[in-house]
This record gives sequence, structure tokens and C-alpha cells, in this order.
Amino acid sequence: MKTVVTAALPYANGELHLGHIKSTYLPADVYTRFLKLVGEEVIYLCATDEHGTPILFESERAGVSPEKYIEEWRKRHLEDLSFVMVKFDRFHATHSPEQVETTQEIYQSLKKSGLIYKGKVSQYWCPEDDRPLPDRFVVGTCPYCSAEEQYADQCEKCGKVIPSGELINPLSKKHGAPVELRDGEHIFFKLSALSDRLRDFVEGVEAPRDIKNFVLGWIKEGLKDWDIQRDIDWGVPIPDSEGVFYVWFDAPIGYMSTLGKWCDENNESPDEWWSSRVVHFIGKDIAYHHFLFWPAMLMGSGRHVPDAIPTRGFLTLEGKKFSKSRNWYIALRDWPLDPEYLRFFMTLTTPQGMKDSDFSAGEFQKTVNEELVNNFGNLLQRVLKFSERFGSRIPDSGLGTVFKEVQEGMKEYEKLMRSAELSDALKLAVSLTHKLNVYFQEQAPWKNPGRAPEVVRTVASSVNLINRMLYPVLPLRSEKVANLLKSKPVWDDKPLAVGHGLGKAEILFPRVEDEEVKKLKALYGGQRGNNSKREK
Ligand code: MSP
Ligand code: ZN
Repeated sequence: MKTVVTAALPYANGELHLGHIKSTYLPADVYTRFLKLVGEEVIYLCATDEHGTPILFESERAGVSPEKYIEEWRKRHLEDLSFVMVKFDRFHATHSPEQVETTQEIYQSLKKSGLIYKGKVSQYWCPEDDRPLPDRFVVGTCPYCSAEEQYADQCEKCGKVIPSGELINPLSKKHGAPVELRDGEHIFFKLSALSDRLRDFVEGVEAPRDIKNFVLGWIKEGLKDWDIQRDIDWGVPIPDSEGVFYVWFDAPIGYMSTLGKWCDENNESPDEWWSSRVVHFIGKDIAYHHFLFWPAMLMGSGRHVPDAIPTRGFLTLEGKKFSKSRNWYIALRDWPLDPEYLRFFMTLTTPQGMKDSDFSAGEFQKTVNEELVNNFGNLLQRVLKFSERFGSRIPDSGLGTVFKEVQEGMKEYEKLMRSAELSDALKLAVSLTHKLNVYFQEQAPWKNPGRAPEVVRTVASSVNLINRMLYPVLPLRSEKVANLLKSKPVWDDKPLAVGHGLGKAEILFPRVEDEEVKKLKALYGGQRGNNSKREK
């Protein structure tokens, strides 16, 4: 089956850090690599999210045109993501002709379906500068949960999208002074009309239960129609009106226009791909947009709605929230250690669902050393070394029953992977490795030479299969391990044949040393600066 995998489009105005990859770019990459491994037709698409007032204002502040500004970020994001081996089939951009075309098309179909109307809005107005204030320049109290210091468009605390003008005690971020409300007229999307269909959609879509319940709660409280117009000239123009579409109206359309671009370049049919299977990887803060706005836009315009929305929680750093302004974060491009070790740690510690998880340098070292280096790395080393007694060939023997368990495990792993339970899948591979270490130890072939042939064949064959399970997470290393085993990362579960040659033991999984932990810790908590590669 054809599958389109997407990761939330990163804003073209902020550096990517470990949090971004943990919830979004890495899981989508691991998932795609797995589907490719089993031979499915799958593409992984992403783009930069380039419209919206913050980007317009940031570019003004940087003294460059918005076009120039976003171009820089496109390059940087792609570099940063490649550095951690996130590999897209196409990485595009929302400030593109394809995007304008697709967005206007969807708007026209929504209009035909009677889901578009003009309505009154209260706009935030800055009396000092005498101009409208964009959402991100206004802070106040959330009308739903009373959380203070929230941006005007969305509450970080309860996750809800806040309609224009409804923030309590709105203050200008720039001046710290109260802002005015001025009446205006904007174009609205009738989200409320689709409540029932959205409820069915949320029930049916493949996604973690906790996030579904969360979203169902919002539907139950009643959905408000959505103001999709902004009075600036940076964005996708609205065909029959002033202004441009709100950035969140065009952003998810970026998935589709990137697909269009890829299909154009590869002679494929976008409709065929889009109507087959669509999977969106996101972080929990953008659930409202992906479980409600986006499917509503799709159903309202007669298009296929997403099949799965694997959602993950946030990453904290040593137990505290990431914060760029307080220097409490690790930028991707500053990651000083092996990127595959980062992929391993993140995948292992990030289950689906809304729960947050933590990165700490100490945990990172401990987990990688225990679960990867001393476990898988050591087993590989031992069996290669021991096989030298048989001229580095698989000796003539049957297989221990533990090999059957690995084969069974491979099936279970496949199921978990397909439902994007990547952390559980990786944990399974790790626990099978533990089992084999125990088997090796108990059989003690160095003391029982009679057992040695079976142990070598069983362990080498099992390591070969487990290595395939590691491939989506550790693509480079897994390739090297396969070379040592004179095998290939492909998805079959056969044991290594008698007489099959093996390579010489070599250290592919060096330990994470204390020195390296120090390097990591120096990245946050005020010592950043001198060692930062990213300041240009
Ligand atoms: N541009 C929007 C998405 C548009 S999708 C049509 C956006 N961009 S973002 O750059 O802020 O975030 C990109 C992804 O990273 C999102 O999935 C977001 O949830 C995720 N994360 C951002 N900060 C994060 C953490 N600290 N922890 C985990 N995930 C984080 O949102
Ligand atoms: Zn709130």
C-alpha cells in the first residue's frame, strides 16, 4: 500500500532542538525507514512553514526580505535534520507556487460546500503604533482555563485555540500596555458545522487514546468557527478578498503541495498517493490543528482524511522546560556526540501519547551504555570473537530454541512498528538481546566445547535478525554490522547457513565516556557560546 508520511512543518524562524526531533522528525523517520525495509511504497515529506506574522516581523527586524529570510532557514533546517540522519524523500517550502495553487483550490471547494462566510471579528489594535497586532504580539489570560501570560492565538496550558478578541486582559508584548479591540470583518471557516463528522473521525483515526480523549473533550465543549484571514500581505492571497490566509490555514496544505511537487518530479499521481494512506507525525501542542482544523478542511473539500496521527509529548531537559531565552536547550547542530546514539536514546524513551519525557546527560550515558553498548555491541563482539575457533564460519549445527523466540519477536516488532509504537518495538529488540546474552553466558561454550557450534550459530543468527530491527534507528551502524555478518538489512527471518563466513570482531559501539557527558552538559546552563558551532 502507498503511504505518505509527514512530519509537522518546522517554522522558518527558529532553531531546531532535541525536542523537535524527539516528538516529530525522528519518529517519522524511523517509521518510514521501517516501512521501506519491509518493502512498502512509502515517502516521507516535509517542508518549512514560512508564512505568518512572526516570520514577517522577524525578517523586518533582521533587515532582510522575508523571501531571503526563509531561504536561510530552509537550508539550516535541512542541514540540521540531515545531521541526525532524518532523511526526507522531499523537503519543500510553503512559500511556493504549488502551495498558493493548492490552498486556493481547497478554499474554493470549501466555499462551494457552503463552509465559508464573512463574520465580525474583534481585532487587537496597538494604539501606540496605530496598527493591528498579530496574535503572537499579544499576551493575556486564557478564557478557557485562566492560565496567565498566554499568546492570543493558543493557550499552552490547555492546548485550545483561542478565537480573535477573546483573550482576557490583552497586553501588547512590545509596550506592555493594554491593547484596544477594533471591530472588523474577516472570512470564517464553519468548523462548528462539522462537529459530528469530526467526532467520528477522531474516534476512527489511529492515534494514542489519551490525545483522542483530549480532542473529544474539545468537541464536546463545542467548536467555534475559525477566522482564517489576516490583514498582512505575507502569505497565500485570498482569491476574492483582501489580505492573506491565516498561516495555520495554509500550513497543513503544505503536506499536500509537497506531495504534488514530489509527484511532479517523479511522474506519480498525487491523488493516488493521498487517497491511499496518510500518516502525520506531530507533537501534542498542535493537536487542535491536526485533529480538528485539518481534517475538517479535508472533509469539507471532499478529500481523504488522515489515517493516522501519531502524537508525542514534549521533551524536557534535566526535568525543566526547554527555553531558548534562558539557554536551557540543546540545538541539533550543537549535538557533540554520535547522532545515532541520540536516535537510539530518543526512540527508546519516547512512547506515543501525551506524556512528556526527559533528556538528561546522565541518563543518556547510562541508557546507551547499558542497553546498546554493553548489550548489543558486546554480544556482537563476543560471537564474532568466538567464531574464530571455527575459522570465522557458521559451524555445522542446529539452532537453540532461543532463536525461535527471536523470530517470534520479529513478528511482534513488526506489529508494533506498523502502529508507530516505536519505543515498544525498540525495547523488544533490546530485551531479545538481553536474552541472548544470558543464553551465551549460561551455555558457557568456552567450558562446554560440545555446545559451542550451536551457540555460535544461534547467537550469530539472532544478532543478524536483531540488527535488522535496529536498522530504522541506527541506519549507518546497522549497515556496518550487516557487513560484518556478511549479511544485508532486509526483512526475512532465516538463520545464517552452515558454512556462512563472518568478519573479524571490531568495535562498532564505543562507550559513552564521562568526558563526553561533560561536553554535553556544557551545552546548556549558561556555558554556551564558545563551543557553539551554530553562531555564524
Ligand atoms: N509550524 C508548526 C507546524 C505546522 S504543521 C502543518 C510548528 N512548528 S514548530 O517548529 O514549532 O514545531 C515543529 C514540531 O516540533 C511540532 O510537531 C511540535 O509539536 C514539535 N515540538 C516543538 N517543541 C518541542 C518540544 N520541546 N518537545 C517535543 N516536541 C516539540 O508547530
Ligand atoms: Zn487555557
